[in-house]
Amino acid sequence: MSTPVKKVPIHLQSAQNRLLIKNGKVVNDDGITDNDVYIEDGIIKQMGRNLIIPGGTRTIDARGKYVMPGGIDPHTHFEVELMGAKSVDDFYQGTKAAVAGGTTMIIDFVIPRKDESLLEAYERYRESADQKVCCDYSLHVAVTSWSPKVKEEMATLVKEHGVGSFKMFMAYHDMFMLRDPELIETFKACKELGAIAMVHAENGDIIAENTKRLLDAGVTGPEGHEMSRPEEVEAEAVNRACVIASQVNCPLYIVHVMSRSAAEAVDAARRRGACVFGETLAAAIGTDGTNYMHKCWKHAAAHVLSPPLRPDPDTPYVLLNMLAKDGLQVTGSDNCTFNGEQKALGKDDFSKIPNGVNGVEDRMSVVWEKGVHAGIMDPTKFVAVTSTNAAKIFNLYPRKGVIAVGSDADIVVWDPNRKRTISAQTHVQAVDFNIFEGMEVHGVPEYVIVEGRVCVDECELKAVHGFGKFVETPSHNIDYVYCLIEDREKRPRGVARTEAEAKKHAEEDAAIA
Ligand code: URP
Ligand code: ZN
Ligand code: ZN
Ligand code: ZN
Repeated sequence: MSTPVKKVPIHLQSAQNRLLIKNGKVVNDDGITDNDVYIEDGIIKQMGRNLIIPGGTRTIDARGKYVMPGGIDPHTHFEVELMGAKSVDDFYQGTKAAVAGGTTMIIDFVIPRKDESLLEAYERYRESADQKVCCDYSLHVAVTSWSPKVKEEMATLVKEHGVGSFKMFMAYHDMFMLRDPELIETFKACKELGAIAMVHAENGDIIAENTKRLLDAGVTGPEGHEMSRPEEVEAEAVNRACVIASQVNCPLYIVHVMSRSAAEAVDAARRRGACVFGETLAAAIGTDGTNYMHKCWKHAAAHVLSPPLRPDPDTPYVLLNMLAKDGLQVTGSDNCTFNGEQKALGKDDFSKIPNGVNGVEDRMSVVWEKGVHAGIMDPTKFVAVTSTNAAKIFNLYPRKGVIAVGSDADIVVWDPNRKRTISAQTHVQAVDFNIFEGMEVHGVPEYVIVEGRVCVDECELKAVHGFGKFVETPSHNIDYVYCLIEDREKRPRGVARTEAEAKKHAEEDAAIA
């Protein structure tokens, strides 16, 4: 049983419930077709050419444009309380910005307060988000401590509240961090429940040690953030998480893979046959860690997130290639925005700078620009890594992540020939800084259709407060996740030994001697 959604869907109150998108190139993860798309009451009802359509239907001409599944951003932190600050993009402003950029669904993380139970935290998020979201959303839940009660609550969340994924932190010492025995237990619990384990993979003990050493040496600025957690500290934790998940045969999703060696560790685990998925971020492919050396403290601090951006200028290219070749599967944003004055909590100590950057609004543009426009991936791969793969992994497919008859009408009409320049001056997000400032991007969402409603209309944003709803991510995703697990399940068997064999072997030994 799921938590009831009380409100009346706004599209049922709207007169404009029929829509035809004509003459476009429909892009799915498996190919591009010339099709018109007819939508009624929020659902794709027909596809083809020369469709027979009721009178009074609004038509959008998509000639020369791509008609793609709306983006799914599986990693946001709206109005999250973290390191003494609350992120400034709330569920309204955050999802409005998402829609402005062509994203029609987000998955946020419930992070429980100290002394708050998982269920209480989940209810708190639902209460706030249900009223505010401009597009559909789901929730992952963070497990930040381990006890029998936590295990019970995980089961309740899966069985009664539509949660299918749990995030565990290997970093954030004395805050959220779990140790290996706890990771083993949480992964086992996920496996038992048919859920997906997610990890923030960095070695928290090493980071604590390095932080102390750097601060003692007088390195207090944002550059110390990256110096305290170089990429091998990320790669070690990625590998450890993959080994633990593989040993307990639990599916694993590594959030925010930020470095070459971490991506290689994900890729290597997948090649060994482990059920592991890797997510990188718009931030990781759209900018880099040289920003931590910037002379302006505010600029440098605005780039602080964990794991950090890498100073190696090739990393964005390497991560994009990993996405293109299925070494990594998903691009999220990890949108977790703090204003300059909040970042200033760490003015004298980099370890106190609230962690997080923007990305929910610009993720689609950044992946298009650096991936498709740069010739590294084609539009079908773009759809895979910005929408379809997330839908498949989190069991939302084919309701989401595909343009097909019967799917939700979450669609972006993308004009590859238009350009725009990203800037904090013009972005929709509440935050006062944009890490992609000044980037010129080709490809603009001309129309964004959320559940059949035109929420970006010829580039004009018309998002609706509270229009979205909570969508369950059911457990036991056999088609895309647990199929990989069942295949690997083997009953342990010992060696059968008989008296007769032992006697024969002893005689042979005696003969040799
Ligand atoms: O720095 C980050 N990534 N902030 C958000 C919290 C998290 O670890 O994902
Ligand atoms: Zn994280
Ligand atoms: Zn995050
Ligand atoms: Zn012997």
